Amino acid sequence: MAKIKKQFTVIKGMHDILPEDFKLFAAVKSIIDKFASFYNFSPIETPVLESLELFERSSGQSTEVVQKQMFSLLTKGGDALAVRPEGTPGIVRAYIEHGLSHAPHPLKLYYYGYMFRYEKPQAGRYRQFHQAGFEIFSNEIDPIYDVQAILTSDRILEAIGIKNLTVQINSIGDKNCRPPYLEKLIKYYKSKSKLLCADCKERLKKNPLRLLDCKEDQCQELKLEAPKLLDFLDSNCRNHFRRVLEYLEDLHIPYMLNTSLVRGLDYYTKTVFEITAEGLDASLAGGGRYDYLAELLGGRKTPAVGVAIGIERVIEIIKAHNINLPMPKVKSKIFISQIGEAAKKKALSLIEDLRNEGILVAEALGKDSLRAQMKMADRYGADIGLILGQREVYEETIIVRDLKSGVQETVPLKRLAEELKKRLKTVGR
Ligand code: HAM
Repeated sequence: MAKIKKQFTVIKGMHDILPEDFKLFAAVKSIIDKFASFYNFSPIETPVLESLELFERSSGQSTEVVQKQMFSLLTKGGDALAVRPEGTPGIVRAYIEHGLSHAPHPLKLYYYGYMFRYEKPQAGRYRQFHQAGFEIFSNEIDPIYDVQAILTSDRILEAIGIKNLTVQINSIGDKNCRPPYLEKLIKYYKSKSKLLCADCKERLKKNPLRLLDCKEDQCQELKLEAPKLLDFLDSNCRNHFRRVLEYLEDLHIPYMLNTSLVRGLDYYTKTVFEITAEGLDASLAGGGRYDYLAELLGGRKTPAVGVAIGIERVIEIIKAHNINLPMPKVKSKIFISQIGEAAKKKALSLIEDLRNEGILVAEALGKDSLRAQMKMADRYGADIGLILGQREVYEETIIVRDLKSGVQETVPLKRLAEELKKRLKTVGR
């Protein structure tokens, strides 16, 4: 009798990308690669396997990701490893290990690769999926970087052709203002503990902030009456958050305050956000600020903020809406510097206006000293400098300087794009 041959199939939650779909993945990646360089992010790649402890320490011992979703293994040599469920801890490890803190900051890093989570497979939720991640390391805790992380991911999703995007945003405070809030939260939930689902009873003991994340109906109801972290922010965190929202408004990025958004990872401080699209329950991208992570992993104190886009979810939307993918173009060497808060604010939206015209502009908006910014321009190899001060903002002009000859002129802002296009042609880059 002939033996019945075993038919192998793809492992649950994993998926093959066949040639037709591969074209879509490649087109999306090509857009993201171009945007990453357009927004001054340098590519980095870290291994898929890292030490198990790296994720326990950074993503958080008591998070779902670490507790339930990690593919972990013991090597023949006895090392406890995990297949990465997310990119951020590996990037921070590499940042510390390779002394990247000595590179000019802000240091913007971009990665693209497979992540693995042992989740219940369903639409848009896989056990192996791609993320495109963006991390910004800086010397200063400046809300401009939070906005740049949001802006980068939002603009990429928009350029791919996804409509009706919403940025859901919240602030979860920092180590100064979160403890008093947690006390109140625990007190509130203890008084309701009988009504909690089994998982939330555990969360109450191990990680009370996660109570706000629960999707069970009974816990959703309790959440409505729970104390809100926003009411407990100290002046530093409140001010930071206010400026993030102001910058978003200046850039006309629609956002929705979501006071129960806490994210599923433990390293966040201050700003947290997710980007959602109409018709999709889950988020397309998620991120936030994580100012303590480098220190927690043995590095020096390094403010940082980042975001990751889920590629499979992007592909699902592209297919569902029959989106034709556009491709960005353009290359140039322009650097903008600003002096003073009004100029900084103006520069942020001006850069967007120029990008919309297809003109790439590099910047270090988180730096306030002109000297530091000019140094960055030099390192970047810019040949055209744009300088915006209080006076220029007031007069709606900008200084355009040929960085090679030092010759400069003041140009009305409304003629700037035209002037730069002319100059770029003559520079021939
Ligand atoms: P996350 O929110 O866990 O954040 O994941 C980011 C994105 O990855 C989600 O918005 C979603 O699109 C996608 N994603 C997550 N899980 C799955 C899954 N099982 N199947 C398909 N797609 C999924 C992080 O991972 C952080 N490391 C983001 C970050 C970077 N925070 C700071 N820097």
